Amino acid sequence: MVELIPESCTARLDPQKIFGRAAPLHVDLGCGDGAFLFALATRMPEKNFLGVERIAGRVEKACCKADKIDNMRVLRFETGYAVKYLLPERSVEIFHLLFPDPWPKRRHHRRRIVTAGFLRTIWMALKENGILRIATDHLGYFTRISRLAEESSLFAFMQPSGEDDFPASAFEKKFASTGARIYRLELRKVSPVM
Ligand SMILES: C[S@@+](CC[C@H](N)C(=O)[O-])C[C@H]1O[C@@H](n2cnc3c(N)ncnc32)[C@H](O)[C@@H]1O
Repeated sequence: MVELIPESCTARLDPQKIFGRAAPLHVDLGCGDGAFLFALATRMPEKNFLGVERIAGRVEKACCKADKIDNMRVLRFETGYAVKYLLPERSVEIFHLLFPDPWPKRRHHRRRIVTAGFLRTIWMALKENGILRIATDHLGYFTRISRLAEESSLFAFMQPSGEDDFPASAFEKKFASTGARIYRLELRKVSPVM
């Protein structure tokens, strides 16, 4: 089955069982219709790819794509919960968080996915030297995320990959077509100095 239905909402997933093999795991948080993940998974058959998305219609579209290849699965779940409670510790090589909803109004900021706590759970789920890639068109959110990452001391700031290194996601294409500037962050997991 390409759509992952966890046996329990409190037990960690077993990537080896899910994919039928041990391979580096890349996770796309808020994967939408799965176009980005499908392009990536097709490009790198030697790795495992998991999309997390909460909207049923988008999960369905992502599953249609995942059905065509062996190394992509889709989990219909809330991102924060999936990272904190379902992904095993030190299991993920790369997280992609592409165009997370920016909730631009100040009174809605508390709905944003990236918080100090979220970054800690990402850190836990990443393997040593694992990467969190973020892209957004929203400067205010980008600045906020950068500050949270800096304050956390959990990540090193890397030179973001170029546009050609990864396929463009659906929202990236949409924003690029309007000429909007895209802000990128690439954070590498480090061990905090005690
Ligand atoms: C702006 S779209 C970006 C989609 C895709 N990443 C892209 O770049 O084309 C944000 C996506 O994240 C999903 N999403 C937002 N918050 C989420 C959450 N807390 N858990 C799971 N999915 C979420 C939305 O349903 C939507 O599909």
